[in-house]
Parts: sequence; structure tokens; C-alpha cells
Amino acid sequence: MTTSATNPTRADASQITAHHPELVGKVAVVTGAGRGMGAVFATELARRGVHVVGGDLDDAPGTAARINAELTDAGRVVGLRADVTDPADHDRLLQTALTEFGQVDCWINNAGIFPQAEFTEIPPDQLTATYQVNVNGVVYGAQTAARHMREHGGGAIVNMASVAGVRVRATRAAYNSSKAAVRHLTSCMAVELGEHGIRVNAIAPGFVDTEMTRWVREDPAALDRALSTVPLRRVGAPIEVFGALYFLLSDSARYITGAVVPVDGGSQHV
Ligand SMILES: NC(=O)c1ccc[n+]([C@@H]2O[C@H](COP(=O)([O-])OP(=O)(O)OC[C@H]3O[C@@H](n4cnc5c(N)ncnc54)[C@H](O)[C@@H]3O)[C@@H](O)[C@H]2O)c1
Repeated sequence: MTTSATNPTRADASQITAHHPELVGKVAVVTGAGRGMGAVFATELARRGVHVVGGDLDDAPGTAARINAELTDAGRVVGLRADVTDPADHDRLLQTALTEFGQVDCWINNAGIFPQAEFTEIPPDQLTATYQVNVNGVVYGAQTAARHMREHGGGAIVNMASVAGVRVRATRAAYNSSKAAVRHLTSCMAVELGEHGIRVNAIAPGFVDTEMTRWVREDPAALDRALSTVPLRRVGAPIEVFGALYFLLSDSARYITGAVVPVDGGSQHV
């Protein structure tokens, strides 16, 4: 087992034991499921009996095949290529879920990009791409989910925000502001969709061990800087973000909507 006890900066990727039996047989759509947190969400949901449709620009079918090969008596994962910046691709995710599993109960707007540039040097295409993926992609996904859920007894939507939406770091203005928008959109959606039995929450991860942040972990100075703003003094593991997601999707969170749950080792306070 890799734990923070053996290496204080390393993520604790050991399993979490939470189990919400009421989610067995439910169906979730996860965007950005080809790798990173999205792939872990798909794996862990399926392990717990939730069927998953995972979309990604890259290799969602390959990820789904790998996950299914490991699963025995649990949920099934279907992967397809889907670009969150295209509303038609969200419709394909929905239709795939309905064709394969007959329903959609949960929708996780996870796909995101994390570009860097000094503020004065942000190129227009970087700004556009960041907002297209991180903001428009979340809106299109939630619209697709909500149109279906309001006709079928409600559901749960979870958006991936970030601590960057409240604690800004230099050279990340496009990303920071896109994640601030996700937080605010989560409130807007919760207010407007609650009467249809649709709960909308967000997760705000801090520094999590995925491909997105590999360059930070591989640069000792950047790693020191990053960990100096984490009270728990280590990077987080995707499974630790899954713990919050699984709770938010479950019946234990049935009176929670419009919340932004930090999973950041305390870094929102530094
Ligand atoms: N890793 C962190 O430290 C961290 C911290 C806070 C928030 N987040 C957020 O969590 C989410 C997942 O991040 P991750 O760390 O797993 O990143 P990652 O880069 O490992 O994975 C992101 C996935 O999204 C996919 N993607 C990108 N653009 C897409 C598009 N247009 N359509 C469909 N898929 C697309 C990528 O192909 C990739 O598979 C993102 O929204 C990210 O901003 C991550």
C-alpha cells in the first residue's frame, strides 16, 4: 500500500470502503473518462454496481474495455468518443446510456483542461478553448442531463470545479476563472433545477495525482510551492475525490444541492 506515512508527499491511493447500496443498478454518465479522475470514477462506480457511460476525446472505449475486464459481478462501462464542447456529443452520451441501460440517474461533468500562461500572454485560442471545455462543456452536459431527468423523476449532477476557483495562483487566469464559473453555475443550476428533483453539486479538488498535474510533481521547486499551500502536506489521490463524488450521488446527500465540496487537503484556506 502506498501511503502518506511512507512518503509524506505521495498520494494515498488505498481503497475507500464506502458503499451505498441504493446506487446499485443506477446509471451514470462521466465525461473525461479516458484517464485521470474520470477513469477512476468510472472504475469505482462500476465496482459498486453502477453502470457507466464514459465519454472522452481520447480512448474512452479502451479505458472502458480495461475496466470491464477487471470487473466481475458489478456494473458495466461503455466508452465512446465524445467532445464536451459539442452539444450533439452530449446527446450521444445520453442516447447511449438509454440504449444500453434504459435510464440516466447521475451525470458527472468531469472533463477539463489546465493551460498556463502569464496573464498578458494568454493567447485568444487558449482562452476560448479553456472556456469551451471547462465552462461550456459543463453547461451542455448539465442541460442534456436536466432535460432528461426532469421528465424522469430527477437525478444528481456533479460538476468538477477546483480550489483554483477561489484561491488563485499566477499564470492560470483562464483556468482559475473557468473554475470560478463552474462554482457559480452550480448555484444557478441548483436553484433552477431543484423543483424537478434534480440536485446539482460541485467538487473542488486541490492538488490531485493525475496526468494533469504530473509536471508539478516532476519539478521539485513547483512541488514544494504546491505542497506549501496544502495543510495536509501531500498530494491527493483520485480515489479520495471519488469518495466525495460517491457521497454526493448517494441518498445520504438527498437534501444537499448547490454545494461545492472541497477535496483539497485544506488548501482553500491557505
Ligand atoms: N488534477 C488536479 O489536481 C485537479 C485539481 C482541481 C480540479 N481538477 C479538475 O478535475 C477534472 C479532471 O481532471 P484530471 O486531473 O483527471 O485531468 P486529466 O487531464 O488527467 O484528465 C482529463 C480528461 O478530460 C479529457 N478531455 C479534455 N478535453 C475534453 C473534451 N473537449 N471533451 C471530452 N474530454 C476531454 C482528456 O482527454 C482527459 O482524459 C478536470 O475538470 C480538472 O480541471 C483537477
